[in-house]
Amino acid sequence: MAEITVQEMAKDLYLLKVADTHVRYFEAIWEIPEGITYNAYLLKTHEGAVLFDGWKKTYEKEFIETLSGLVPLEEIRHIVIHHMEPDHSGTLPKILELNGNKAVVWGHPFSKRLIEGLYGISPEFKAVKDGNTLEIGGRKLVFVQAPWLHWPETMVTYMPAEGVLLTGDIFGGYSIPYGTFDDEVDVESYLPFARKYTVTVIGHYKDKIAKNIEKLGKFGIEPKMILPAHGLLWQMDPQRIVQAYLDWGKGKPQKGKVVVVYTSMYRFVERAMKIAVEELKARGYMPVIHKIVDDYHSSLADILSDVVDSEAIVFGAETYESEVFPYAEFILNEMGKKVEYEKPLLLVAVFGWAAAAGKKLRSTIEESSFNLVDVVEFKGIVTPESDAKIKSGIKELNAAVRS
Ligand code: FEO
Repeated sequence: MAEITVQEMAKDLYLLKVADTHVRYFEAIWEIPEGITYNAYLLKTHEGAVLFDGWKKTYEKEFIETLSGLVPLEEIRHIVIHHMEPDHSGTLPKILELNGNKAVVWGHPFSKRLIEGLYGISPEFKAVKDGNTLEIGGRKLVFVQAPWLHWPETMVTYMPAEGVLLTGDIFGGYSIPYGTFDDEVDVESYLPFARKYTVTVIGHYKDKIAKNIEKLGKFGIEPKMILPAHGLLWQMDPQRIVQAYLDWGKGKPQKGKVVVVYTSMYRFVERAMKIAVEELKARGYMPVIHKIVDDYHSSLADILSDVVDSEAIVFGAETYESEVFPYAEFILNEMGKKVEYEKPLLLVAVFGWAAAAGKKLRSTIEESSFNLVDVVEFKGIVTPESDAKIKSGIKELNAAVRS
């Protein structure tokens, strides 16, 4: 049975939260053994109710029961769509059907096309421009577009009198926090889940994070409470998640953290990486190791998340069928899409009968923002010569970090 939370956030503003413990791969790719929550909200007034977003269709039955427990569905006069990804909009068609299609749907102009495209329905739709307001039952809602966090149609709703900001995906995080608000949990333990969420879901558009946060400031939005559509809600220190998102958007490094990520079919690459790790430690770094080997695969989501606040990266891979080992290529491509920062990167490549990985990965890295400090490529086992090259590569990496 799904774990559901209904809780009043401010006067007559309710959280409707479901914990998804079933999903293992968010968007069918990002490993989340920690699970995720879908947070919808409902505002009740004497002039009717406003629903903000919904849940994934998997939980449609539970959403209808939960929502009906708060308000007769036909009394919902407005539905605000902050974001059309189906983890929030999956319940929209059924709610509209049970509502008798009385509700006006408010959203970014692009949402109309997505509602029609994803669900084949055309409800009454109010396209929202920056600063548009909805006043109902003595409550005021102000809408501001926050595009590309992480779809083109993302937007937020601000309730100025209450200082409440409803943000959709923005400021959200993975996991199922054991409390509702930031003053009920160990925030330090939660933030890595929010970082992982930001990287995997919003990372491709990370440059938009600061722009949109700055935009909210221009609209005089200084929230006392931030209510995202995933994870923890913020009332004790909302600025903390705002600052965290800004830091992750920029890839702000944690001093001494170096990500060591490698693929190794028969541990040849691993032997080389052990030399790199020891050399890093000798220079005072704290290597965080991720690997693809024959008895363990690190999570791609964790790899990307660790790159965000690292000072540098050591990437190891081997040649496979005259190409780059497939997982190495996949990981590096995703790094280029989600966590491409100007961080120093050392490439270590190993081959059997013919070298290919070094040349191909060098080309990929040189086309990215990563600062390729050196490529160390050698055949098979680590020799004294290749040992020296690896140590020299770490020296170059250290120089780039310290420059
Ligand atoms: Fe939580 Fe982009 O959907």
